[in-house]
Amino acid sequence: MIAFNFNSVASVLVEDGAANQLGSVLRARFGAERPFIVTDMGLVKLGMLAKVQASLDEAELDHAHFDGVEADPSEAVVLKAVEAAKAHRADVIVGFGGGSSMDVAKLIAVLASGEQQLSEIYGIDQIKGGRLPLVQVPTTAGTGSEVTPISIVTTGETTKMGVVDATMLADLAILDATLTTGLPAHITAATGIDAMVHAIEAYTSRLKKNPISDGLARQALLMLGNNIVTACNDGGNLDARRAMLIGAMLAGQAFANAPVAAVHALAYPLGGHFHIPHGLSNSLVLPHVLRFNEEAAGHLYAELAVLAGQGNSAGDFIAWMDRIADETKVQRRLRDVGISHNDLPMLAQDAMLQTRLLVNNPREVTLDDARAIYEAAW
Ligand SMILES: NC(=O)c1ccc[n+]([C@@H]2O[C@H](COP(=O)([O-])OP(=O)(O)OC[C@H]3O[C@@H](n4cnc5c(N)ncnc54)[C@H](O)[C@@H]3O)[C@@H](O)[C@H]2O)c1
Ligand SMILES: [Fe+2]
Repeated sequence: MIAFNFNSVASVLVEDGAANQLGSVLRARFGAERPFIVTDMGLVKLGMLAKVQASLDEAELDHAHFDGVEADPSEAVVLKAVEAAKAHRADVIVGFGGGSSMDVAKLIAVLASGEQQLSEIYGIDQIKGGRLPLVQVPTTAGTGSEVTPISIVTTGETTKMGVVDATMLADLAILDATLTTGLPAHITAATGIDAMVHAIEAYTSRLKKNPISDGLARQALLMLGNNIVTACNDGGNLDARRAMLIGAMLAGQAFANAPVAAVHALAYPLGGHFHIPHGLSNSLVLPHVLRFNEEAAGHLYAELAVLAGQGNSAGDFIAWMDRIADETKVQRRLRDVGISHNDLPMLAQDAMLQTRLLVNNPREVTLDDARAIYEAAW
């Protein structure tokens, strides 16, 4: 018997240039008067926030913004952003940026009502009340955060915690490929591989894999795999950029319902201890986890190889991922990103704490296995 639950965002708007009409969209769809934009300094410096602000001015909205989001946002950043949104008396929250900004936007939408503290909502389904209207506008094609109910917060020097609750699924995600044409090649590559990992891990997810997530993961992998190299080499190619954004969103919908597993579990300690960006962390361990999983999930990898026209075996699939990593020029080895051999036992111990993710892996991962995978990636 198949029994499963599938949740996603209510509405997705895909349109090149849509961000230039954000003001009228917020007014028409939400009756908004006081939008609050959540972003990072990088996008301010690139002049991308200014374009969105111009559209809010045009719609005569009383807007404010928070641009203090940083990669792997900390609790302090979240709390500061919540206070700023409260002070503005925001009536709609807009996440504008990569996964970091969108994750913070979700938490603001929930916490600005003041009913619960951040510390009370960590974990799964801990949100009690509602939230402010929430719109997500991704500027990277990677995390799929615009359609996931997940926020990841850095809670200590090396620790992260997640808030997972369907309440945080946005009301609207806006995919505007023109926002991503200036994304540097190395970020395009790492975030794009993160999105591919979401599709792969959803497709092989042990407990919650289902026909809807399978369909989404397959389409995601095709769109991402067929366009990632072009998007890296020819950043201005709008067709490739649009395909990457849609693919990352589909992969997000897939893994929001069929969760990710050992690739992410082994990637998180790299971010926690060495501040390696999320996408790069994933791509560093990906081939080695695929080889480890082959005995349990090889038939599924073979299906994906056939789907992509890249052969017909798990080995062919893994070789395809290796080619993509080569062609997009992502860093390949842990030793290349400042990790010493002595760090591997500590990383393996940390990865074993990611039980929320490891439980989804098609093959059980022991401490010795984690150590061997890092060894192979070193
Ligand atoms: N909620 C989820 O489901 C989920 C899933 C995976 C990861 N995450 C989280 O997402 C974060 C990673 O997100 P990310 O990989 O999108 O990176 P990010 O949001 O940290 O952004 C990375 C960098 O890219 C820059 N940037 C973004 N868009 C740009 C553009 N169009 N042009 C030029 N520069 C641009 C930003 O200024 C920033 O410096 C991590 O905090 C991770 O924990 C969340
Ligand atoms: Fe990810």
